[in-house]
Amino acid sequence: MVHRCRFDDKHGLSAEASEAYARDGVIVIEDFVSAAQCDLLKQRAVELVAEHAPAASGTVFSTRDNRHAKDAYFEESANGIGVFFEEGAFDEVGKLRVPLAEAVNKLGHAMHDLDPVFNAFSRSARLQAVADAIGLTDPKLIQSMYIFKQPGIGGEVVCHQDSTFLYTRPQSVVGFWFAIEDAHRGNGCLGGLPGEHIKGLREIYGKHSDGQLKMDRLQPDLSWDMSRLEWLAVPKGTLIVFNGEFPHLSEPNRSAASRHAYTLHAVSGAAHYPEGNWLQRSKPTDLPFTGFVNE
Ligand code: FE2
Repeated sequence: MVHRCRFDDKHGLSAEASEAYARDGVIVIEDFVSAAQCDLLKQRAVELVAEHAPAASGTVFSTRDNRHAKDAYFEESANGIGVFFEEGAFDEVGKLRVPLAEAVNKLGHAMHDLDPVFNAFSRSARLQAVADAIGLTDPKLIQSMYIFKQPGIGGEVVCHQDSTFLYTRPQSVVGFWFAIEDAHRGNGCLGGLPGEHIKGLREIYGKHSDGQLKMDRLQPDLSWDMSRLEWLAVPKGTLIVFNGEFPHLSEPNRSAASRHAYTLHAVSGAAHYPEGNWLQRSKPTDLPFTGFVNE
């Protein structure tokens, strides 16, 4: 069973929690953020969709066979606030099939640096203490995503490791997954394979010398033991922390309830962050990667 614990404001995380993280590659910290903090973030996410969606839907996502524009929009979101839609959100003539607020898959990938509400949520001495407890030295926040998992149409996420998409040498990626709403089997909570992270990275998605983003299989013979699958149903306000090599997934949301979550990915400033990573901070913003507490 995945270790479930609470953060103690005086003592932080227990030694047992640190050991469980090393063993399983994941821990669940209940009641980490308040309901009010969750509600504030949710409200701001909806505002950001309204602010940023027109540019995305007008030029990038509403036309078919627009691979290049989609890739460019994706890469630019490393420095900005991009809006990404559910599969099939648009009809043949580029009109939204459902209201905008129900068509969005996620926001990404630099809200934690660009938006004051997301910035405040993403940085705290408590998060720094969690990083310390799991052995993440000199954490740098590299990516934020707000995931809507819409009622009825929220898509499936197949089993993967986050370090496939963001990697360092040595591996140091940690995912911080906040339940902004209750997450359960019905609305597509996370599921994961505790202990399977020790098998290492299965595949890597990065930039090749021709400038194209491609997936490469690193361990062709690696298979995960799906009998270890554990569903991580958690209430609103829970923080799930997992190793970048922890295999995880989520089912489609067929229920009438949304399943909003916010994720932050951090790496160690002591590790090498290769240029092959799709996510690169570049001009015009040149935002530096910074930590959980203001430097
Ligand atoms: Fe993931």
